[in-house]
Amino acid sequence: MRLLVTGGAGFIGANFVRLTLAERPDVDVTVLDLLTYAGSASSLPDDARVTLVKGDVADAETVEALVGEADAVVHFAAESHNDNSLDDPSPFIRTNLVGTFTVLEAVRRHGTRLHHVSTDEVYGDLPLDGDQRFTRDTPYRPSSPYSASKAGADHLVRAWVRSFGVDATLSNCSNNYGPYQHVEKLIPRQITNVLDGVRPKVYGEGRNVRDWIHVDDHNAAVWSILDRGRIGETYLIGADGEADNRTVVSTILELMGQDPDAYDRVPDRPGHDLRYAIDASRLRKELGWEPRHADLRAGLAATIDWYRENEPWWRPQKLETELRYRRLGR
Ligand code: NAD
Ligand code: DAU
Repeated sequence: MRLLVTGGAGFIGANFVRLTLAERPDVDVTVLDLLTYAGSASSLPDDARVTLVKGDVADAETVEALVGEADAVVHFAAESHNDNSLDDPSPFIRTNLVGTFTVLEAVRRHGTRLHHVSTDEVYGDLPLDGDQRFTRDTPYRPSSPYSASKAGADHLVRAWVRSFGVDATLSNCSNNYGPYQHVEKLIPRQITNVLDGVRPKVYGEGRNVRDWIHVDDHNAAVWSILDRGRIGETYLIGADGEADNRTVVSTILELMGQDPDAYDRVPDRPGHDLRYAIDASRLRKELGWEPRHADLRAGLAATIDWYRENEPWWRPQKLETELRYRRLGR
C-alpha cells in the first residue's frame, strides 16, 4: 500500500509517518509538504520506505500526480497556529481551504480513500466551569481565523462525500503534545524557555483549559479510522486530558527542578477560547481505540527529556519564534 501523507514533515504528520513505519510493514509513504517554517525534513526518518516531495497542497498539478499514485491519502497539511492566524490570516485561507479543496478534487477524480485530519476548535469553546464536552453533534462555532478555516475545510469534505460520493472520513482531535512539535506551541515553548533560563509565559490568567492527548494516541486513532472507520463519519479524538494552562506550566517547571510559580503572565490572546473537552466514546466503542499515554505528567516528563536531548532539532526555530512573540506582545 502507498499512503500519501500531506503535511507529513510537520509535528503530527511526522509522528504519523514514524508510527506507520514501525507498525505497518506493508505501507510505503509519500510525504507532500511545502516545508514552511513549521515543517522540517529532519523530523522524518531516513528510510527507503519514505519519499518526501516538497510541494504545495493547493497546487492542483502536484496533488493530482501524487494522488494518482496513492492507495489512500491522510490530509494533515495546514497552517496550524492560532496566534499566527490572528496576525495574518491569508496563508490559512489558502492552505486550509484551497488546499483541502485541491485534495478533494484529486481524490474525487481518482476514487481514492481520504482521511481528513481536523481539530476540536471548530466547535468553539465550552464554559470554564461545568462538565459539557464536544460531540460530533455540537454545532460549529469557530473563534479564530485558524479554526474558521478548519471548519470550512470540514464542510467541504462532508459536501464532497454527500454530493460526489468521495470515500472520506473526518476526525476532530484535541491538543496534541510530544516530540517534534514546533516551539511556537505552549508545551515546547515553555520547555525550551526553561532550558534557556527564560521564565515561561502564560496568557492572561492561565485558567483556559485544553484537553491534552499524546501525539501517538492521536495517530493510533487515525489508523483505527483508516482501518475500520465508516465512510462519511466524523470521529472525535481525545484522551480525557483536561488541564488548565497554569497547571501545565507549573508541572513543566516542577519536573524541570524549578519553582512551579516561576512563570510570567503576558497579555491574553484575542478571542481566546476558554475550554476544550472531547467526548471520544464513539471512537472507543465503535472502533475499540484506547489511549496508551493517558498520564499527562508522565507524558510531559518524557517530552521534556526529548527536548533536552534534541536541541539541534529545535534550536534553529527558537530565536525567530521568540522575536515573533515579542512583536505580538506575548
Ligand atoms: P504543523 O504546523 O506542525 O505542521 C503542518 C505541516 O503542514 C508542516 O510540515 C507544513 O510545512 C505543512 N504545510 C503547511 N502549508 C502547506 C502547504 N500549503 N502545502 C503542503 N504542506 C504545507 O501542524 P500539526 O500540529 O502537525 O497539525 C497537523 C494537522 O492536525 C493540522 O491539520 C491541524 O489542524 C490538525 N490538528 C492539530 C492539533 C494540534 O494540537 N497540533 C490538534 C488537532 C488537529
Ligand atoms: O485543540 C486543538 C488545537 O490545539 C489545534 O487545532 C491547533 O493546531 C493547536 O495549535 C492547538 O491550539 P491552541 O491554541 O490550544 O494551542 P497553543 O499551544 O497555541 O496554546 C495552548 C494554550 O496555551 C492556549 O490556551 C494558549 C496558551 N498559551 C500558548 C502559548 C504559546 C500560553 O498561555 N502561553 C504561550 O506561550
